[in-house]
Amino acid sequence: MIELKDITKRFADGQRALTVLDSLSLHVDEGEFIAITGESGAGKTTLLNILGTLLPADEGQYSIRGEKVEVSDETGVERLCHLRNKEIGFVYQDHRLLPQFTVLQNILLPTLATKTTSTEEEQQRALSLLEFTGILPLKDSPVTQLSGGEQTRVAICRALINQPAILLADEPTGQLDVANTQTIATLFQQVNTQFHTTIIMATHSAEMSKVAKKTYLLKEGKLRVKN
Ligand SMILES: Nc1ncnc2c1ncn2[C@@H]1O[C@H](COP(=O)(O)OP(=O)(O)OP(=O)(O)O)[C@@H](O)[C@H]1O
Ligand SMILES: [Mg+2]
Repeated sequence: MIELKDITKRFADGQRALTVLDSLSLHVDEGEFIAITGESGAGKTTLLNILGTLLPADEGQYSIRGEKVEVSDETGVERLCHLRNKEIGFVYQDHRLLPQFTVLQNILLPTLATKTTSTEEEQQRALSLLEFTGILPLKDSPVTQLSGGEQTRVAICRALINQPAILLADEPTGQLDVANTQTIATLFQQVNTQFHTTIIMATHSAEMSKVAKKTYLLKEGKLRVKN
């Protein structure tokens, strides 16, 4: 499903370059559920942003289903937008929900990339996802009135609305208590088993790592299998 080969990413750090990812390789099969752990600053967000095509790598190859992903390739912009919108769902650590919209409107936003209204089918899907995540009664609430755990669930629904093959999540439970983390962990597990979505998430949480099928440690720019 996903192949990263010799990915290197550097950031300018004063006069020197800081190498965050150092010839990193990763192979992800369809349906896998992967947790990526590592110290703060290890490069987890950088890696997820590269996987989400939000950031170009400096070196190395990235392919999805054997097709090369070229983030800086101008001619491939349309394909990249399609890939980003249809194939990849992203849950950001800070949710990035739009405060002026309701729960349902936030979830339907990714369906409006190329048109002005959501289809009946997309609206039905949004309602099913709300039910699946247990927040259907909140569908017309402004997202600003929701708790952190509820906002995380909205972010998960929004990431899944276009039925992506891949779900990327950056510390989805970063700000949640143990009970809410457990709820989200179970949800991720259900998404993986019921929708067969391939999941890659960065997490500091032991509860979240526990539900993943495989855990990697990101250290010194490289990934090592932890279990
Ligand atoms: N746009 C940028 N410009 C310069 N340096 C950056 C940039 N983005 C990230 N970095 C640096 O790259 C390193 C890795 O950052 P990253 O956000 O990927 O870490 P992380 O593992 O996600 O950390 P955390 O657990 O705190 O979220 C850090 O040293 C950070 O300061
Ligand atoms: Mg991070």
